[in-house]
Order: sequence, then C-alpha cells, then structure tokens
Amino acid sequence: MSGSHIFTRGSMTLHEMVKGEGIYLWSRDGHKFIDGSAGPICVNIGHGVKEVTDAVKKQMDEVSYVHSSHFTTKSVKDAADKLAELAPPTLNYVFFSCGGSEATESAAKMARQYHLLNNGPKRSKVIARWQSYHGNTLGALSMSGNIARRRRFAPMLVDFPHIPPCYCYRCWFGKTCDSCDLECARALDMQIRATGPEYVSAFISEPFVGATLGSLPAAPGYFQLIREICNEHGVLFISDEVMTGLGRTGKMWGIDHWETIPDIIATAKGLAGGYLPLGATIASDKVFEGFGEPFAHGHTYGSHPVVCAAGGAVLDYMVKHNLVENSRVTGEYMHKQLQDLYDHPSVGDIRGKGLFAGIEFVKNKDTKEPYDPCVGFNGRVVEQCYENGLLVYPGSGTIDGVRGDHIQVAPPLIATKEEVDLIIELLDKSIGEVEAQVL
Ligand SMILES: Cc1ncc(COP(=O)(O)O)c(C=O)c1O
Repeated sequence: MSGSHIFTRGSMTLHEMVKGEGIYLWSRDGHKFIDGSAGPICVNIGHGVKEVTDAVKKQMDEVSYVHSSHFTTKSVKDAADKLAELAPPTLNYVFFSCGGSEATESAAKMARQYHLLNNGPKRSKVIARWQSYHGNTLGALSMSGNIARRRRFAPMLVDFPHIPPCYCYRCWFGKTCDSCDLECARALDMQIRATGPEYVSAFISEPFVGATLGSLPAAPGYFQLIREICNEHGVLFISDEVMTGLGRTGKMWGIDHWETIPDIIATAKGLAGGYLPLGATIASDKVFEGFGEPFAHGHTYGSHPVVCAAGGAVLDYMVKHNLVENSRVTGEYMHKQLQDLYDHPSVGDIRGKGLFAGIEFVKNKDTKEPYDPCVGFNGRVVEQCYENGLLVYPGSGTIDGVRGDHIQVAPPLIATKEEVDLIIELLDKSIGEVEAQVL
C-alpha cells in the first residue's frame, strides 16, 4: 500500500471538495452540489462567509493559543457573552469544548458535580432515551440510545438507563394521538423510581431526535411533563441541542417549542457553523451557583481563542441576518412543499420543524413495513441525490437499529424559498428514480 489512508465511516467514496459558497459546494471533478443537509447539519450560516474567516485570521495574528485554566482572550469572553445572550435568561454559564460529544459529556459531569456539592453524593446516573444520539465518545455513547451505534461497543459503556422514545409514527406503547396519555414521558417517572431517585443525576434528551430518528419532534406536552417529573425527583434536565440549537428548528432552541427551560443545554454543530470545531455546555444560574469550587473538567483545546473567534463571528452573522426567523419562515414553506412527496409510495412520514426535516421511507404505507435492510434504501436515495447534485444526510436502523430508513433535509439557515424549491425538485426526482430501481 502506498500513500496515507484515512479511516472513513461508511462505504461511500469520499469526493474531494474544493470550494464552498452559500448553500453550494463544488468538487474537484467540477460538479456543483446543493448542501441540502448543511454537512451533518452544522453549516448553519452557509459556506464561505468572509466575516468568519476574517475573525479567525485576526485572532490567529493576535494570539492563537492560551490555556484556558490560566488565561483567556477577548474572543473567548465575547463568544461566551453572545451565547449566554441567546440562551434562556436563567442559563448564563458557558463551558466551551470542541464538539457535541464533549458538550454532552461535560453536561453529565456538570450534573454529577452539582449533586456532589448539593447533598446528592450518590447521584450519578444519567437517564436517556432509546433511539437517541448524544455522541460517540464512551461517556456520550453510554447516554446515546442509538442501538446501531452502541452495539459494537456495548461492553465498554457505562450502565445508564434508557426509556422509550417519543416516536408517534411507531409508538412503542401502541397508542395513537387520540389514545396517547404521554406514556413515553411517564416512563421517566417509572425509571427514576426503579433506579432509585437518590442515584439519578440527570435526564438528557434531544427535543427533536436528529440523526437516529430523522428530525423527529416530541409530542405536544411531552417536555412540560418531563420537566415536572425531573423537578419532583430533584433530577437535572439536560437538553441536547447539538443539532437543534441556534435556530435550526425555527426557534433559538429546539426545546423552546415546548416552552420548557432545561437546567443545562449542550450545543455544538451550528455554533461555529462548521468553520472550526466548537461545542458548549450552558448551565443555569442554579447549577452554577451550586458549585462552590471550579468545575473539575477540561480539555487542552477547550475555550480555544481562534475557535471561539469563529463561534463569535458565526453568532454575529446569525443575529445580523435574522437566520432564526428565516429558518422559521422558509422552514414553514419547506414543510408545506415537502407534503407533495407523500405521492411517492415509499414516503411514509415527513416530520420536523423549521429548516429541519426528516423523511422516513417504508415499503408499505398501510402497514409501515420497512424495506429489507439489504436493499439499503436510504443509501440509494443519498447516492441518487448525489448523482443529481443534492447532498442529504442518511440514516438507517430507524426502528430498532437494523430496520428502517430515513434521510434528513436541513439546508443552511440562509436558504431561500427558490433554493428550497430546487432541493425538493431534486429530492422528488431522486426518490422516484430509487423507487424505479427497487419497486
Ligand atoms: C444531538 C447530538 N448530540 C451529540 C452529537 C455529537 O456531536 P459530535 O459529532 O460533534 O461529537 C451529535 C452529532 O451528530 C448530535 O446530533
């Protein structure tokens, strides 16, 4: 073997990209693509924004690195101020890391240290939901309920309890909207009691389940009930906003759709818009003030001056161009137009909010029977979209880690209605072509 080899995920050939601008990307072999999923849903302000690269260059020229336990820079303080300003009013304390897994894992450790210092010395368990994703490092994967991603590493994981997801299209309790009594939220109460409240530190969930279930929102009233249950048992509520944070769903935070305030928010992806790796864990005043000592946690590259300069510039751009509002308005348009895709025999469910949509594919709409995993339906859709110049984000194992196919459609938050039309036209064409191959 000659040359270097990069470990890759999946079996797709990696195409070399050479240019990014707005919602478009160009490959070395001359093809132009619409970035219909903003990378893995992170390039929220679009590609090639000069304000961001300028801020990065400026910080590089001033001072590129100082260690966060000894020093800080204006770029770090500014990014923290801007983020706290956008967070719910009672969440003001920001801990910067390098991505989503670090952000959720930091949240879990923050909750643990809070309890240690506040009469909860046994509280260490984080309860999460099956078919969720909170990251791939071992602590974050222990919280993740993504059955497919856990399988190989299960023996290495921490024993954290999981409750059923809020998955109305395939309710784990066999309920319909009419008969629903939010059994999936009440399962948290049962799980806390079964574990012993004195051992439970936090509950973590994505307000819309992203990669695992394809932009799936929880039912109305779900998070209000979750909040009540957490309060009753003295359990902290962590909202994982790594994918849904900062406008993706048409509100600043995904959890805002349920008018619920978490104790801790973990965010990343759109925070530095894909320009540099940045994650953040934002704690409420109550959690922070419960700390009589420093947070016993950190990484070499946490609060990195240059990365925070990128984050600050991305947040400025987002606010200046009203991108949360664009996500709401253009997102409403996108969801309306997406309804036409129900004409396809394979389109079982379309869900999401703002510029955050998921499409679940089925072999039979009446029975919701999925395609045989050997068909690789979602992979085919992604490949066909790619052939047609559109990038979308694939997902499989939607039902149980093995069966089920979905894709996510989530263009940068700068997308216009005309660009949304183009995305849907290419999706329509690509899904039709895949159906012709497999039906
Ligand atoms: C909801 C959620 N949490 C956490 C993560 C992990 O983030 P990262 O890949 O930056 O470690 C992801 C990544 O997709 C995510 O979607």
